Order: sequence, then C-alpha cells, then structure tokens
Amino acid sequence: MNVRTATHLDRDAIHHIHWSAFAAEERDLVAKLAVDLLSEKTSPSVISLVAESEGLIVGHVAFSPVTIESDEAFQGFILGPLGVMPDYQKRRIGTKLVESGIQQLSKIETDILFVYGDPKYYGRFGFSVEAAEPYIPPYKLQYPFGWQAVALRDYKARRTSASLVVVPSLSNPALW
Ligand SMILES: CC(C)(COP(=O)(O)OP(=O)(O)OC[C@H]1O[C@@H](n2cnc3c(N)ncnc32)[C@H](O)[C@@H]1OP(=O)(O)O)[C@@H](O)C(=O)NCCC(=O)NCCS
Repeated sequence: MNVRTATHLDRDAIHHIHWSAFAAEERDLVAKLAVDLLSEKTSPSVISLVAESEGLIVGHVAFSPVTIESDEAFQGFILGPLGVMPDYQKRRIGTKLVESGIQQLSKIETDILFVYGDPKYYGRFGFSVEAAEPYIPPYKLQYPFGWQAVALRDYKARRTSASLVVVPSLSNPALW
C-alpha cells in the first residue's frame, strides 16, 4: 500500500471512497467536502492524500489550514474527512494516511492539528479533548465530545480562548 498526494484526476475516486465509507445521512455532504477541498486556494495549501492498493485508490484524507484572526503567528490544521473503502478497512490504511499527514504537517511547522471525530479512533494518534479546549470551532457542535487536538512540535497551547477560522469548504454548519 502506497500513500501519495492527491490530484484533480483523483476526484471521482475520492468522492466514491467517502460516499461508500460514510453512513447514508452524511455521505453526500462528506464526499462533496472531500472533492471541494481539492480546489481550495490557501496558504499553506490543503494536504490531500490517497492510499493506493494494487492500483486502486482505497483511502483518502484531507488536512486544511485553520487560523485565528487575532494571532497571525498561529498555524493550525484540521484533519477531515478521512475515509477508507469498506472492503479495505481494519488494514491500517486509515492509520497510515493520518500518520503520513502528521509527518508532512510537522515539516511545515504546524503548531496544532484539530479533528472532529470519534475519540476512540483518534486517541491513538495523540488527539485529546483537553488540547482542543481553548480553541472554539466555527459552529456549534452536534457532538462536542468529538472536538480534539494534538500539539505538534513543541507548541504550547493558548491559555485564553480563541475562535478558529476554517476554509470555505468547511464553512457549512451542517458539517459540524
Ligand atoms: C475510521 C476509518 C477511516 C478507519 O480506517 P481503517 O483503515 O479501517 O483504520 P485502521 O485499520 O488504521 O484502524 C485501526 C484501528 O481503529 C479501529 N477503528 C476503526 N474505525 C473505528 C472507529 N470508528 N472507532 C473506533 N475504532 C475504530 C480498528 O478496529 C483498528 O483497531 P485495532 O488497531 O485495535 O485493530 C474507516 O473505518 C472509515 O472509513 N470509516 C467510515 C468513515 C468514518 O467514520 N470516518 C471518520 C472517522 S471519525
């Protein structure tokens, strides 16, 4: 299994992965998000990775930048969406995608990585609810216990709370 940077040519495969992996009530929204993130024009850029197995694209993850208006030096990212084709799950493909992304983010001097997802899954990568506490997500969360973060490098978390700004593709309350 190989992990590489996604391109626009992977759009249909990326859509198919999330549409197949996520539950019926969220699959359209998440698959559209994954494709939309390929076209975001941000600095730093969105990181979009695919996992290939035997010539097939079987997994995808995206990492997009998040900022704080009053703190120009701050550089965060948020992980999502992450999906692996149902027939390929539980083979550590999700783990490899997340770890590859974290490796790339560490190289570009990211302070902190956020995720909104299942703590039982993301805890293994060092994400915790405590680390995310000072950082206010852009919309009211349906599942507040899923809001987590992991500090990268030697970043020291803020003591005062601050609101995060996300990329346009994620600026949709239905995703939160
Ligand atoms: C979540 C997902 C990306 C994991 O991908 P994967 O390639 O199957 O994950 P891995 O093989 O790396 O899984 C490693 C471990 O996580 C566990 N795991 C997988 N999904 C989990 C979940 N939703 N909650 C808790 N644990 C989970 C596996 O059982 C495995 O446990 P083990 O190491 O003790 O055997 C995949 O199951 C998926 O696409 N799910 C549907 C979409 C989704 O929910 N994505 C967002 C996650 S919040």
